[in-house]
Amino acid sequence: MLTAKIITFGISKGGCSKSTSSGITSYLLSKEEKVLAIDMDGQGNLTSFLTGEYDICNAFEQRTILEAILNEDSRSYIIKIKENLDLIPSNDFLATLPRKMFEKGLNLDALQKALQPVMEDYDWIIIDTPPALSEQTVMPLSTYSEAGSYAVIMFDGSIFAYYAIPKFLEIIDGARERYNPTLKTAGILFSLIDARAKENEVMQEAIEEDYPNLKFETIVRRKASTRRIAISGFERNSELKNALEFYNPFVEELKKRVQQKQPQR
Ligand SMILES: Nc1ncnc2c1ncn2[C@@H]1O[C@H](COP(=O)(O)OP(=O)(O)OP(=O)(O)O)[C@@H](O)[C@H]1O
Ligand SMILES: [Mg+2]
Repeated sequence: MLTAKIITFGISKGGCSKSTSSGITSYLLSKEEKVLAIDMDGQGNLTSFLTGEYDICNAFEQRTILEAILNEDSRSYIIKIKENLDLIPSNDFLATLPRKMFEKGLNLDALQKALQPVMEDYDWIIIDTPPALSEQTVMPLSTYSEAGSYAVIMFDGSIFAYYAIPKFLEIIDGARERYNPTLKTAGILFSLIDARAKENEVMQEAIEEDYPNLKFETIVRRKASTRRIAISGFERNSELKNALEFYNPFVEELKKRVQQKQPQR
C-alpha cells in the first residue's frame, strides 16, 4: 500500500532557503508523484510561494495546519494547488499553537495524529518549518511513516548556520529517541551560495569533515531567477528552466538517498 515518505526541511538559522527549497521540491516531485506540502511556519512563506496568495490571514482564516492539528484530523484543511500537488497552509495564527496544544493537552505526536488519515493518499509529504527549534519543528521530525521520515538540513554557508547544524542534529536525535525511531537525516543542502565567495570551499570542507556523507553533492547557487519564482510562480514562467537548474539534480539526489537501505545517520 502507498504510504508517504516525509521530508522535513529545517535549520534554526533564518533565511537559509527552507521555504523556497521545500516549495520547489514539492513542485518537482509532483510532476510524477502525489505530494502534500505542509507549512509549519506562521510566516506562511511556503503557503504564499505555492498559492501566490499573500493575504494569508484572511485567505486561509481557520483553514490552516493550526486547525488540522487541534482537530487531530487534516482532511478538511487540504487545498489543491495543481494536479498531484496539495497544500495545508498556515498563517500568523500558528503562533497560538503551543498555548492551544497545552490547553487541549496535546503532545508532540499531534501532527502525526492529524496526518494519519491522509498518510496513504500521498507518495511524499514535504514540510517547511520555521527558523526555531520549537514545537513547529519538533512535531514534523516526530512524525513517523512506514515509508520513512527524513530531515533535510538547510545550510547557507554562513558561520551562523554552521553552528546551528549540531543543534538541529540534536533535535533530530531527540525526536528519533522519543517518537520516530526510523527518522534519518537525508543530508545537508548548501543553498544561497555565491559562486565567487572565497569562504565557501572552506565551509564545504568543514561540513564534509564534520559530517561525512551528509552533504548533498548538489550545491544550490544564489540565482535571481530562483528568487523570482515567489513572484512569477511556476506556470507561464519563461525563466523557470534556469531557475530550477540546481533543484532538478537536488531532487534526483534526494530520491536516491531516501531509497537507500542503510541509514544515513
Ligand atoms: N537559490 C536562491 N537564489 C536566490 N535567492 C534565493 C534562493 N533561495 C532562496 N532565496 C531567497 O532568499 C530569501 C530566503 O529564502 P527563504 O525564505 O526560502 O528562506 P527560509 O529559510 O525559509 O527563511 P525563514 O527562516 O525566514 O523561514 C528569500 O528572499 C528567497 O526568495
Ligand atoms: Mg521560511
